[in-house]
Amino acid sequence: LSRLRVALAKGRLYEPSVERFTRAGAEPSADAGRRLLVPSSDPSIDFLMVKPGDVPVYVESGAADLGVTGTDVLRESGADVLEPLELGFGFCRLVVAAPAGVPYPRLPGGITARVATKYPRLAQSHFAALGRPVDIIQVNGSVEVAPLLGLSHWIVDLVDTGNTLRANDLVEQETVLQCGAVLVANRASQKLKLDAYLGLMERLERTPA
Ligand code: PRP
Repeated sequence: LSRLRVALAKGRLYEPSVERFTRAGAEPSADAGRRLLVPSSDPSIDFLMVKPGDVPVYVESGAADLGVTGTDVLRESGADVLEPLELGFGFCRLVVAAPAGVPYPRLPGGITARVATKYPRLAQSHFAALGRPVDIIQVNGSVEVAPLLGLSHWIVDLVDTGNTLRANDLVEQETVLQCGAVLVANRASQKLKLDAYLGLMERLERTPA
C-alpha cells in the first residue's frame, strides 16, 4: 500500500482535524515532540504540520498528498486541488465590517475606501463584482484594529462568534464567503495512490463530524 502524507494546519483547525483522523484510525503519534513530519497509528499515513496558509501550497505541489484547510484560505490561494470532502467543522464567515458611524457602502465626497484584510484576493473580487472601487491594504492579523487606528475605513475578516467585531465597535455589513474545513487532495497523487486514497476517504466518510 502506498503512503499518504497529510498536511494539517496548525491553528484553529488543528484539534478538530486530529480528532477526525483519530476516529478514522490515524492518530498522529504523541511522542513526536517538535517534529513536523510525524507518523500515525495507521502505517500508511504520515502527518505534516504547517502554517494554515501553506496547506494549499503543499497539496497543489504534491509535497503533501492530502491536506485539511479552510475554504477561506483555499479560495484566497487559488490553488488547483481536488476537494473530495467537507469535514463539518471550522465553520465561519468572511465578512465586510465597518466601524459604527463610518458610512457603508459609500464614503462621503467620493473618497475611495481603504479596506484592511488578510484576504486581498477575495476582498478585491468581492468589491469588483459589486462595481465598488476600493484600495486593499494587506495585513497579517489583528485586522480589527486597522479602522481604529485610521489605517483603513473598513475591513474584510473572519467572523465566528462575532465577539471580536463587537469588542472593537465594528458592524458587519456583507458576507463575502461562508467558510468551513475541507479535505483537499493533490490531483496526481489521488490517481497514483488510489488504493490508499480510497481507503482513507472511506474511513473518513464512515466517521462523520
Ligand atoms: C480570527 C478572525 C477574527 C476572530 C473572529 O482571528 O480573524 O479576528 O478570529 O472570531 P470571533 O468572531 O469568534 O471573535 P484569530 O484569532 O485567528 O487571530 P488573528 O487576528 O491573528 O487572525
